[in-house]
Amino acid sequence: MPDCPLKHIAFIMDGNGRWAKKRHLPRELGHKAGAEVFDKIVNYCYDIGISAVTVYAFSTENWKRPQKEIDAIFNLFSYYIDHYVEKMRNKKVRFVFIGDRTPFSDSLKKRMSDIEKATEPNSQMILFVGINYGGRNEICHAVNELIAQGKTNITEEDISNNVYTHVYSDPDLIVRTGGEYRLSNFLIWQSAYSELYFTDTLWPDMTGADVDLAIEEFKKRDRRYGGV
Ligand code: FPP
Repeated sequence: MPDCPLKHIAFIMDGNGRWAKKRHLPRELGHKAGAEVFDKIVNYCYDIGISAVTVYAFSTENWKRPQKEIDAIFNLFSYYIDHYVEKMRNKKVRFVFIGDRTPFSDSLKKRMSDIEKATEPNSQMILFVGINYGGRNEICHAVNELIAQGKTNITEEDISNNVYTHVYSDPDLIVRTGGEYRLSNFLIWQSAYSELYFTDTLWPDMTGADVDLAIEEFKKRDRRYGGV
């Protein structure tokens, strides 16, 4: 594996709808193109030696979208979690789904936890997929877990140990495509010291070369973590 200047990269995959609109296509086809690019970008990150990738596939706010679009995203998610896991089998990728699974069907919940269990020993790369994920919701979830454990004086370390991504260190770099400059409730706790990179490129147009540009920019940043 090549030496990589960062361990954990996260993507806000924005711009699928606009990509489709530019081509006079339904938004659902933008998400389909986005899912194909998700595959390419994750593999590219793997090839350049990144150890952890987090993607934001569906947020706790995305339920406000038309039902047809929600169904299209969940159909893609459902297709990918089986076919993608199979495709990545030889690559030793561990899958972890982050987000609130409460509204999902029992069969989807089972498939998700089966994949997590089956891939748990894989140590080449970890892939966190945010599905019904919201950063504020995650912090509430972590605090409720701690209350259930009987904790009374909650520390930062306690919360870090109870967020959905607790099995890996926080992202070094968060990339948002699609020209918006905000985090939109993504990795609110974990992003305290992450570098942020914004690009106008729409997610379905994203390539490995765009990832390289983000990493080049990351290398120029001076990470002081509050020091001098
Ligand atoms: C944001 O673009 C994208 C989403 C809300 C969905 C992302 C979903 C996928 C890439 C496919 C499924 C995921 C996996 C992991 C297989 P937008 O719709 O907000 O675009 P817009 O801002 O141009 O309207």
